[in-house]
Amino acid sequence: MDPFIGFIGGGNMASSLIAGLIRQGTPGASLGVAEPDAEKRQQLATIPGLFATPDNALIAQRADVLVLAVKPQMLKAVCLALREPLAGRNPLVISIAAGIGTDALARWLDPSLPIVRAMPNTPALMGHGATGLFVNAGVSEAQRQQAERLFNGVGIVRWLADEAQLDLVTALSGSGPAYFFLFMEALTEGAQELGLDPGLARDLTLQTALGAAHMARDSGLGLDALRVRVTSPGGTTEQGLRVLEREGLRRIAREALAAAQARAVTLAQELGEAS
Ligand SMILES: NC(=O)c1ccc[n+]([C@@H]2O[C@H](COP(=O)([O-])OP(=O)(O)OC[C@H]3O[C@@H](n4cnc5c(N)ncnc54)[C@H](OP(=O)(O)O)[C@@H]3O)[C@@H](O)[C@H]2O)c1
Repeated sequence: MDPFIGFIGGGNMASSLIAGLIRQGTPGASLGVAEPDAEKRQQLATIPGLFATPDNALIAQRADVLVLAVKPQMLKAVCLALREPLAGRNPLVISIAAGIGTDALARWLDPSLPIVRAMPNTPALMGHGATGLFVNAGVSEAQRQQAERLFNGVGIVRWLADEAQLDLVTALSGSGPAYFFLFMEALTEGAQELGLDPGLARDLTLQTALGAAHMARDSGLGLDALRVRVTSPGGTTEQGLRVLEREGLRRIAREALAAAQARAVTLAQELGEAS
């Protein structure tokens, strides 16, 4: 029988993960969601067989895999209230809440529970996510595979050996979509200022970003080799790249990552470890 996967919180990320599971062939009858908002519940309940309820305890009592998908600020209160319904049960707990460590989760729920911490990103909402996963000591191989399958439904998954790396993953792939949005914005604006029609500038920028990402992923070549290939000596690309290098794009990227990572560490302290 399929394990019962229960979600606490039925917002954007939970809905995307559920859609991914359904695409992979998980039957709706193996899925449950606790969500306070009646409209969101009704929307989720249109999936045949899915059990939607306002009661977190009902989901916790049934779940073999319990996905915590509420905002980080809500998580402590939600976990403390789940202690009783989880008593004597041993589901795999998967938290997608940014910044809350496995130590805090174990303290709030039950130290003996197997816990996976995940850092997905917003493109997961469109099935193109990148998720970093970390497991605590109590997680079995079968449970690792279960967690991997959940996030494979909305993109790629990479395992982390060290929980502290999640702060850097947050800075890279968690915040990363915004860096690329900014770069695309800058190229579009630049092209516009130099004379291109706004719609045309946008279309060409977006398709170029998409095309470059596809080449980087599928060509089998390294990023540096790809860059060298499009850079003919004495050509146009060489001149453009010279400005980006001269103005310190690599240093800027490193500093942006370090600043985001430092903020992730501070937020984690505020949200979890200090409480
Ligand atoms: N979206 C992303 O790209 C992304 C990326 C990485 C990590 N995450 C993490 O994923 C988690 C969910 O994010 P999201 O974007 O899906 O947020 P969201 O859309 O706000 O979803 C959270 C849901 O939880 C519900 N909720 C609130 N209090 C609850 C309670 N006590 N019991 C059960 N459900 C409750 C909310 O209902 P109401 O609206 O009625 O309050 C809402 O539907 C967050 O912890 C976030 O850090 C998200």
